[in-house]
Amino acid sequence: MKVFINKKIPETGIKMLEEAGLEITVPEKENLSYEEWLNYCKNTDTLVSIGAEFKYDRSFFEACPNVKAIALYSVGFDHVDIKEATQRNIPVGNTPDVLSRATSDVAFLLMQSVARRASYNFRKVKDGSWGAFDPLHALGQELYGKTLGIFGLGRIGYEMAEKSKKAFGMNIIYHNRHHNEEAEQELGAAYVSFEELIKNSDVLSIHANFTPDHKELFNESIFEQMKPDAIFINTARGGFHNQKDLYQALVDQKIWGAGLDVTNPEPMSADDPILELSSVCILPHIGSATIEARNGMARLAAGNIIAFSKNEKMPHCANPDVYSAHSS
Ligand code: DGY
Repeated sequence: MKVFINKKIPETGIKMLEEAGLEITVPEKENLSYEEWLNYCKNTDTLVSIGAEFKYDRSFFEACPNVKAIALYSVGFDHVDIKEATQRNIPVGNTPDVLSRATSDVAFLLMQSVARRASYNFRKVKDGSWGAFDPLHALGQELYGKTLGIFGLGRIGYEMAEKSKKAFGMNIIYHNRHHNEEAEQELGAAYVSFEELIKNSDVLSIHANFTPDHKELFNESIFEQMKPDAIFINTARGGFHNQKDLYQALVDQKIWGAGLDVTNPEPMSADDPILELSSVCILPHIGSATIEARNGMARLAAGNIIAFSKNEKMPHCANPDVYSAHSS
């Protein structure tokens, strides 16, 4: 069985696929054009898919009828038309859990970086504009006892909430599709309405799966309702926020600061005026970028392909319905 992997991944995953006797193709070229990528996809049975720049939509599936399974090298699957894949009996694997710590670490890092204006202060050192001690300049804020609002309290949100509670004794409120009983019991997290989340959070951190109805949910009208000293954190998907509205809310001091590991668009322009603000810290989507998480992702992606090659269910599948469709 052929496996196309569009970029190099950690060796541990490649080894697993080799040991399973699968025929692996990894292009030498680092960043394939859409046409180059599609040509490889047309000639493979399965894919380990890295990155989200190319979409798995109906036109993809029509162009690549040989593709029988996709193992994403990500937990997020918003670049895949899951309904279309399921209708075509194509399982789509993903990589949950192994990156929860790393991604929540980045949310926690951004929360502190923004609270203490770390990016701005780093820039001052680099620019040679350190200057004399100033009792009033670039003051941050402390997080002790403040309220952390989590939008989407799954595995990553839980880790963020736990760290914030342990480090700063933060109160946790959350809004989610379902109650998270573990978080309520272990962390004293309180379920609130979306409106309450927006109005009562000192730090608002997004950890939900992105779906089309979330598109730019965090926009002018939401920033307007937040506390003026609130910090907005997005490590989930850039599509959750309207970046121009976010910029304006920061300029108008509707909110206090923002930490982004995901931007809208992504990659964002280096000329975006938001980068000039002292109240932001922006990273280039590095949530899962640790050796541990990336090795774990490689193992899960390889495990999904190997299971498929043996006619078994993918252990980590974004469209488990595909299996009930098969059996019916
Ligand atoms: C994920 O796994 O979804 C992360 O965003 C890395 O792509």
